[in-house]
Amino acid sequence: MAPNKSIDAVKALRQNLQTDALLGAASVPVSMTRVAQRAAERAASPSEPSGRTGTTRRTGDKAERLRRLYEDHVRNCTLCHLATMRTQVVFGQGNPDARIVFVGEAPGFEEDRQGLAFVGRAGHLLTAMIERGMGLKREDVYICNVLKCRPPNNRTPSTDEIAACAPHLFEQLRIIEPQVIIALGAPAAQTLLNTKDSIGRLRGRFHDFYPSGSALVGNPIPLMATYHPAYLLRSPWEKRKAWEDLKRVMERLGLPIPEGYR
Ligand code: URA
Repeated sequence: MAPNKSIDAVKALRQNLQTDALLGAASVPVSMTRVAQRAAERAASPSEPSGRTGTTRRTGDKAERLRRLYEDHVRNCTLCHLATMRTQVVFGQGNPDARIVFVGEAPGFEEDRQGLAFVGRAGHLLTAMIERGMGLKREDVYICNVLKCRPPNNRTPSTDEIAACAPHLFEQLRIIEPQVIIALGAPAAQTLLNTKDSIGRLRGRFHDFYPSGSALVGNPIPLMATYHPAYLLRSPWEKRKAWEDLKRVMERLGLPIPEGYR
């Protein structure tokens, strides 16, 4: 191999190992000590960008508005036939005053059982992306789905189901008003951006999401589309692209990117 090519190959391998270490391939023996240490320091320091101060009242208002949305409109929702098949609705959970909201597709088996979003295998990878990759705590962000009920056999949500359920998601996003939304996978990105473009085309750049539903009303929230963690479990070689997407979000929010992972 020519010297330049071998240097490129070593660099690519190093980047892949780092991406795997950050996004949850436990078999890769790369030390995470420095990343974990930084996350701990950030959590302990309220003046760091990931911390938020002086928001107790607002957070309380948002928590109450989310609670009312859940109680009055979602908990006993029968707007589509998935209501007859669910164990319970999966509303979403996390910090009502989060800077980042992650939006997935729909609850799976484990989510339907526990009533919580992203608690199965894909959820474990999402947690690694948030905590090991972004240096945040899962409780600091908000996590929810386009559909609040599990489709049978985890099939892709139908157009009718999305049409019935998406207003709940839009209202959640209007209440939380995050600084960035991360859409995980095609159904989330396509629903929020009202497009049929593939996730391969949508990912990797910021889009404008209008919480009002109209580009003529209100300010947009930046939305980053990226691959769904379940897809990353099936296609681990795509993790590097997902990590690039997360780094763009971190840069936008002024979150420190660990040295060596820039
Ligand atoms: N996949 C999703 O899209 N959402 C979940 O909550 C779990 C798996």
